[in-house]
Parts: sequence; C-alpha cells; structure tokens
Amino acid sequence: MIHLHDKSFEPFISSEEIDFAITNMAKQMDDDFFDEVPVFIGVLNGSFMVLSDLMKKYRGMCEVNFVRMASYEGTQSTGDVKQLIGLDQDLEGRTVVIVEDIVDTGNTVEELKAIFKEKKVKHLKIATLFFKPEAYKKEIKIDYVGIRIPNKFIVGYGLDYDGLGRNLPDVYQLAQ
Ligand code: IMP
Ligand code: MG
Repeated sequence: MIHLHDKSFEPFISSEEIDFAITNMAKQMDDDFFDEVPVFIGVLNGSFMVLSDLMKKYRGMCEVNFVRMASYEGTQSTGDVKQLIGLDQDLEGRTVVIVEDIVDTGNTVEELKAIFKEKKVKHLKIATLFFKPEAYKKEIKIDYVGIRIPNKFIVGYGLDYDGLGRNLPDVYQLAQ
C-alpha cells in the first residue's frame, strides 16, 4: 500500500505486465510502419515513461517528439477548450503516432485528433498504454492499446494523483 496526499493506493499492475504490453505495442508498430519513418509524439506529462520504454523497443527508423495540452488563457466563455503547445516540427505528409499514457473519457484524444487534422499529416494513429473502455465516450478508434482496465483511478508509471506518483515503476489503484 502506498499513500499519496490524502489517499491510499494498492498494487494493481506490475512493471512486468507493463513491459509485456509495451513490447507487444512496439512489435505491432514495427509491422505496421516497416516502410515508413513515423513521428512518435508523446503527450506530456503522463506519457514520458511509456514513450521512453516504447522507443527502446521500436526497431524501425523514427522520430520522437513531445507536446503538451494546455487550457486556453483568456477565454473565460470556453474554459474547456485546449490548445496544443510545444510542437516544433512540420508534420505535413508524415505518419504520426500520438502516444498517450491513458485514455479515459476520450475528450483529450478527440481534441488532439481535431488539432492534428489541420497539420495535413498522412496518417494519424493513436496509441495508449492504458484504456478504460467503460469510461470511453467517443467513436474515435484507438489504434494501439496496451492494457484495458476497469473504470478505476490509477497512479504510477507516468500517471499522477495531484502531481504525485508519476515516478512509480508499477501501477496502483485507489484503495477502497
Ligand atoms: P480523458 O478523459 O480521456 O480526456 O483523459 C484525461 C486525462 O485524465 C488523461 O490524459 C490523464 O491525464 C487523466 N486521467 C484519466 N484517468 C486517470 C487515472 O486513472 N489516473 C490518473 N490520471 C488519469
Ligand atoms: Mg495524459
């Protein structure tokens, strides 16, 4: 059991299971992109661990980049709208793989998809280490899923509870 802020978390997914899932994702991607040079784009902060481990297992030639989603400043009326920051690369005609730590409701993925549509990429693929099918509300296909989990709050391996827990190599779930 670990304690972060006011909450307790119990072991849920081991680093070995995560490693196995990422190995499989990398293999699938190697098959799919054998004749391309994809650009893997991690969405910070949560995806720093999964993208790092995925890239060590991906054998093909590729590029790696990171972006961040930030709330618009000064648009009080549309407080929910997000903007993408940190993209320092022209993606026109490229095969782009967005790498997420977790897809929950799908709101973030939907926003990312809309933003990248305007970049004139050739193919846009979505990859996520963790996916909560019961919470997912969108029609957008998630191309690569590492591990499907029930609708539970998890921390570790990049995922945080109010800033803490990202550095844990294993994943924990909220204890009852
Ligand atoms: P969305 O609902 O799919 O848009 O997910 C939004 C964001 O919520 C994710 O990118 C994570 O940062 C965060 N999130 C969703 N589920 C969890 C969780 O179980 N633990 C930690 N963060 C989460
Ligand atoms: Mg995220």
